[in-house]
Amino acid sequence: MSASPEGSVGRRANVHDFLAMKGRGEKITVLTCYDVLFARILEEAGVDMILVGDSLGQVALGYESTLPVTLDEMIHHARAVRRGAPRTFTVVDLPFLTYQVSVEEALRNAGRVLKETGAEAVKLEGGDAVAVATVKRLVACGIPVMAHLGLTPQSVHALGGYRVQGRDPAAATRMREEALAMEEAGAFAVVLELVPGPLARQVSGELSIPTIGIGAGVGCDGQVLVLPDALGLNPGFTPRFLRRFSDLHGEALRGVSAFVEEVREGRYPGPEHTFDPEGPA
Ligand code: KIV
Repeated sequence: MSASPEGSVGRRANVHDFLAMKGRGEKITVLTCYDVLFARILEEAGVDMILVGDSLGQVALGYESTLPVTLDEMIHHARAVRRGAPRTFTVVDLPFLTYQVSVEEALRNAGRVLKETGAEAVKLEGGDAVAVATVKRLVACGIPVMAHLGLTPQSVHALGGYRVQGRDPAAATRMREEALAMEEAGAFAVVLELVPGPLARQVSGELSIPTIGIGAGVGCDGQVLVLPDALGLNPGFTPRFLRRFSDLHGEALRGVSAFVEEVREGRYPGPEHTFDPEGPA
C-alpha cells in the first residue's frame, strides 16, 4: 500500500507526473472503479489512477460484453467514482460507438465526459488511422487521452474472442507501430491488454509515454486490473494473468449468510440495536 493517500506523487497526479514516474522507473498503479464506496477505498490506498472502465457493463451491470454500455451509463458511474475519490486522477472509457462515427462526435462525447464527471481524461480503443486522428483532435482541444491496444474488448466479435494479441510477427509489428502513432498523436499513456510479455516490454521500451498492462507481463510501466476481479468478487473468472488480492466474494457470502441465519433465528436485532421509548436516537 502506498504511504500517501493521493498516490505516489502525494497530491492528485496529472499527465506529466505519469511521464515522470516512467522516467524514474516507478510503477504506476491503476484499478478500475464504478461506485463511490470502492472509490473511497482506492483513494485511501493511494492508487495512482482510477479507470472507470466500460468493463462496467460486465462487472457492474451484468451485460455479456462491453458493447451495450452507453455514454450516459459511463457518466452516471464516473460521477459516483469522482464523489468518492475527488483527489485521484480519473480516466473514463468512451464506450462503443461514441467515438468511431466521426472525430467531431468523439470530441463532443469526450467533452461531455470531462464536463459532467470532473474526470481528467478519457480512454479509447484501437490504433488505426481514425483512432489516431481522433486522439490528435481531442488532445488539441485539451482532453488527455489514454490509448488502448492489444485485446480491445469493444472489437471482441471481430477478434473472435478474448484472446492474446500480437503473437505473430506481423501483428506484433503493427502493434508497435500503432503504439508509436498513439504517442505521436499525443496520448499520455497506452493500455496494453493481453499482449505477450516480451512484446509489451519492447513497446514499453520504444515509447516515452507509459504503458499500463493487463495480462501483458511485468515489463509494462504500470499495471491495471478490473477491481472486482482483483478483489475476488468474480470467482468464476479465472484468466491466467489474474491474481486475486482478496476474497471479497467469500467474505460477502459469509456476511449475508450470517444475516439470514440470525434474522431467521431471532438473534438479530438484539437489545443493543433496539431503541428505548425515551433516550438518545
Ligand atoms: O474497461 C476496462 O476495465 C478496461 C481495462 C481492462 C483496461 O479497459
